[in-house]
Amino acid sequence: MKLIAANWKMNPASLKEAVRLAGSCDEKGVVIIPPFVFLSAVGDVLKKAELGAQNAFFEDDGAWTGEISFRQLKGLGVRYAVIGHSERRKLGESDGVIAEKVVVAFKSGFRVILCVGEHWETRKKGKRAAYNFVKKQLVADLAVLKDRRFKIKNLDLIVAYEPIWAIGTGRNDDPEDAAEMAGFIKEVLAADFAVLGGRVLYGGSVNARNASGFLTRPEIDGVLVGGASLRAGEFKRIIAAGK
Ligand code: PGA
Repeated sequence: MKLIAANWKMNPASLKEAVRLAGSCDEKGVVIIPPFVFLSAVGDVLKKAELGAQNAFFEDDGAWTGEISFRQLKGLGVRYAVIGHSERRKLGESDGVIAEKVVVAFKSGFRVILCVGEHWETRKKGKRAAYNFVKKQLVADLAVLKDRRFKIKNLDLIVAYEPIWAIGTGRNDDPEDAAEMAGFIKEVLAADFAVLGGRVLYGGSVNARNASGFLTRPEIDGVLVGGASLRAGEFKRIIAAGK
């Protein structure tokens, strides 16, 4: 079964809408990733879908105004954590910070959804340039997996390939190209990090019309959906395409 993840970003506006939306897409294989303020209420609604967080901090507790820890999220029943989304990288989150978050997320027992993806300036130079860019991100963000002292059993790593030029633009990647990139990411995970069975999602302007193009590729294990996950009817069609 493919993984269908809904990244609500800073939406919807009210708790009432969040609860209604969650109730309409509570299906197996779905991960709902609401803003922090709705996590608890959405968690109460979900019976089949799982809960994810859009971000978290790398310390467990202490004087970190405005931050939320993995430990706190765990207590709410959150199983997945998105780390390194391009919208956070744009706000200044560095590979160093992302790498620290990855360590704590794994140690806290989360399934990590690490986001990677190139800018248009890179992609327009060709596929090779995009591959090199993504590999560099993986090497920097997953540095800890090369450390022999870091031993996590059954480590569950999910990489979301989200080309930045495709996010929120209505200009999705070609499914064939995205599948090739997913295959490449899996090769890097296996060869450089000895991570076998790592999953790869595609994200960037996925909607009900184009979802099956991605979800039918064997290299692509699911989709990370932003805008279209806020429209219940449309998101249900994406879920159906993953079955
Ligand atoms: P989008 O966002 O589906 O609105 O392009 C995807 C994402 O940022 O995860």
